[in-house]
Amino acid sequence: MRHLMSPLDFTTQELDQLFDLACDIEQHPSRYAHACDGKILATCFYEPSTRTRLSFESAMTRLGGRVIGFSDAASSSAAKGESVSDTIRIISCYADICAMRHPKEGAPMVAAQKSGIPVINAGDGGHQHPTQTLTDLLTIRSLRGNLGNFTIGLCGDLKFGRTVHSLIRALVRYENIRFLFISPEELRVPDYIIELLKEKNIPYEEVIRLEDVMPQLDFLYMTRVQKERFFNEEDYVRLKDFYILNAAKMELAKKEMLVLHPLPRVNEISVEVDEDPRAAYFRQAQYGVYVRMALILTLLDIDV
Ligand code: NCD
Repeated sequence: MRHLMSPLDFTTQELDQLFDLACDIEQHPSRYAHACDGKILATCFYEPSTRTRLSFESAMTRLGGRVIGFSDAASSSAAKGESVSDTIRIISCYADICAMRHPKEGAPMVAAQKSGIPVINAGDGGHQHPTQTLTDLLTIRSLRGNLGNFTIGLCGDLKFGRTVHSLIRALVRYENIRFLFISPEELRVPDYIIELLKEKNIPYEEVIRLEDVMPQLDFLYMTRVQKERFFNEEDYVRLKDFYILNAAKMELAKKEMLVLHPLPRVNEISVEVDEDPRAAYFRQAQYGVYVRMALILTLLDIDV
């Protein structure tokens, strides 16, 4: 039985197969409409979510399956003190596959060890968010044609942003990618990521001003300052509007550059940018459904 804890759980060849399947689903959705008839997905969300939980629910429903779950730890037995290990043992009796989001790093991994069904990490604290990474990679592959030879700027909260940590780890396996980390001093990418890049001899630069690097970028991955992971409100208030991407800044970018964002956005992308053809974040959310459909089929070992 296979779980998904990190994007590295799949080889790059397996990822290619997964993305091919996602593209086939996009083109021929009716072929897959009954692929999961009789199957049940459990969504166990101990932290807020709109896209991840609903795209999983949409994915399973579009495959003909059903969904059970909770979207708030307070309405589950966690509020009574139940451990994730016990909860997953119970969920294993009720469902065929489980997507779990938890504020503690490693909680889905702990669950997977006691689970009788595949567990998907749907975000664990500031650590990893592998299904967002699958979404990001499929978006890049679909809109650009391949997954190598580009410069990507990651901007915003690179310290607490789990989508950033997962994406960097996944991208280092592709050829000729250059990273530009754009963040205030306090929100720099963690040391273990810098060590990983150094070890693999992958080019990167850390800068503070977005304007300075804008013309170099093929992709700009914007992120929200992760309010819920700050220790004090004052620091959050000081940093939350550090970057605001607007039409004037977009003028500095290449005409084929693409803007990605895992969403939700707060103030970091001004709504005027939504009309720019280079704004790809809403298209990115749509790819999230196809890739989760492909992932459910793959982990349940269902061939269509
Ligand atoms: C991200 C997350 O939960 O880490 N959201 C998402 O799943 N698309 C990004 C964020 O919350 O900022």
